[in-house]
Amino acid sequence: MEFVDVLAARKSVRSYSDRDVPDDAVSFILEAANSAPSAGDLQAYEIVVVRDKSVKAKLARAALGQWFIAEAPVDLVFLANPERSRWRYGSRGERLYCIQDATIAATFAMLAATSLGLGTCWVGAFDDRAVLEAIEAESPLIPVAIISVGYPAEEPRTTPRRDIRELASLDKLGNPYPYKPVEPKLRRPAEILI
Ligand SMILES: Cc1cc2nc3c(=O)[nH]c(=O)nc-3n(C[C@H](O)[C@H](O)[C@H](O)COP(=O)(O)O)c2cc1C
Repeated sequence: MEFVDVLAARKSVRSYSDRDVPDDAVSFILEAANSAPSAGDLQAYEIVVVRDKSVKAKLARAALGQWFIAEAPVDLVFLANPERSRWRYGSRGERLYCIQDATIAATFAMLAATSLGLGTCWVGAFDDRAVLEAIEAESPLIPVAIISVGYPAEEPRTTPRRDIRELASLDKLGNPYPYKPVEPKLRRPAEILI
């Protein structure tokens, strides 16, 4: 899949078929996460790959009963690791960079999964302590996201977005950016840059 197609295909999937996700696919997804940028290249995060049914059920409960987490063949739990970032960056690393590192890695993982035809959903609504307990991890690790991964059993709906003219500014906040939509036939990056 071309990058633009991956972006267009990624939509939150909350229903999964029984078809398993092969280990090779998980490796591919982990390699993508591992290639993400991170502050000082410290990669201040941990990833727990969850396949065990009872652990998935605990995660679903920790996520306030979002049962598609248990239905998905694989869940990836991304944890920020403040200590990994703190030794070099102090409180900024502890408070901000480790969360950003984990978030970017999780995003790379989602897009890699999408490129394989898999469905994903970013889950952020959960009880931190219950997530840590489910995967036998401890504070100061901070659960940032549970990414459910599996073959879609639903056609994900298209969700609305803010108008770019409303969210982007030029030079100063609130100064409208003169956004013009890219013509559909120019959407291939090589053609945009020519
Ligand atoms: C930080 C964050 C937290 C989210 N938490 C949840 C969640 O707990 N449960 C859920 O079903 N979706 C969750 N989502 C998915 C969003 O609902 C979804 O991305 C949004 O509605 C846009 O839809 P799309 O992903 O299909 O483009 C979360 C997404 C993000 C980025």
